[in-house]
Amino acid sequence: MNEMTGGTGSGSGSEKPMANIHEFVHCVQQIFVESANMQLIPPKLAFRLNLPVWSRFEGAARKALDLARTYVNENVEHIRNEVNGESDGMSGQGIIRQLLNDGSISVEEMVRIIVDLFIAAADTTSHATQWALYLLSRNPQCQRRMLDEVNSVTGGHIVEECHLPHLSYTKGVIKEALRLYPVAPFLTRYLSHDMELSGYGIPSGKLIVMSLYTTGRKCEYFNDANQFMPERWLRDKELANHQTINTHACLPFGLGVRSCIGRRVAEIQMQFLLSRIVQKFQLSAVSNKEIGINLRMIATPEQPIHLALKKRATL
Ligand code: HEM
Repeated sequence: MNEMTGGTGSGSGSEKPMANIHEFVHCVQQIFVESANMQLIPPKLAFRLNLPVWSRFEGAARKALDLARTYVNENVEHIRNEVNGESDGMSGQGIIRQLLNDGSISVEEMVRIIVDLFIAAADTTSHATQWALYLLSRNPQCQRRMLDEVNSVTGGHIVEECHLPHLSYTKGVIKEALRLYPVAPFLTRYLSHDMELSGYGIPSGKLIVMSLYTTGRKCEYFNDANQFMPERWLRDKELANHQTINTHACLPFGLGVRSCIGRRVAEIQMQFLLSRIVQKFQLSAVSNKEIGINLRMIATPEQPIHLALKKRATL
């Protein structure tokens, strides 16, 4: 997503950022809100009856596609101009450049890919980061342990890519935040054949909805299931203290061929962001009141999360 938001767009090999990024983000959020509103009404029916919820959904989707189309067209032109002017114009790492290089994907398909990726990537990663910061602010001893780990791995310097594999506790913080607050809370599958599930006979073709929120907080799978304990994910069984009984009960990125393709991107972004924030600031909760969770397509806080950030003396 870097190419949409960052970069100067002026140099060779870089892509132009999207001019109306805020409008685009707003459309993506509205797509989520209206999709959640349509969970109780079949979208086909909402479309046939031309319900206001459908019009709002369609309007947001159309606007997002229009903005993405302008962005992709501008970049395709920019990249092609570079190719004409310079020998290495096609090199670089942006998604559009790579899709153009592939040669078999039309510009309209690129537009759809960009919109799909943004829908899947933006709100999930940002809400997951927000929940992790919320949990760290309410658990100062975990925050301290994370800071100690980060400082010992980096020697007190800013976190770089080479440090990430050694931040086991930080990874535990992310996994634990996603266990308690799975931002994509429901996994769905259509059954390809009849099956029996927990004593219920379910015919093929039926939609199965699995709640990650429910399994993630079950005492039969996790000791002290409602407690935030990043150490339960450490490989060292001594340290983990057998606090996790069934790791498969926590699948925040899904499982199998349709699991999340952005998992590594999200994990790396969160590892960087959280460790750098904890290095720079001491986080504390503004209120002791627990914040509830809205379980929709994306798990969002019931009220805004307010945190106090105090700058640390070092870094
Ligand atoms: C914390 C962040 C994220 C979480 C918790 C998350 C979670 C999920 C989940 C639960 C699924 C459905 C998996 C299944 O049904 O088995 C999914 C699918 C998907 N995710 Fe993510 N995701 C995150 C970030 C991202 C990012 C950053 C991207 C893109 C760069 C992305 C792209 C996708 C795509 C394209 C799919 C659909 C895959 C398919 O249907 O084959 N996600 N994600």
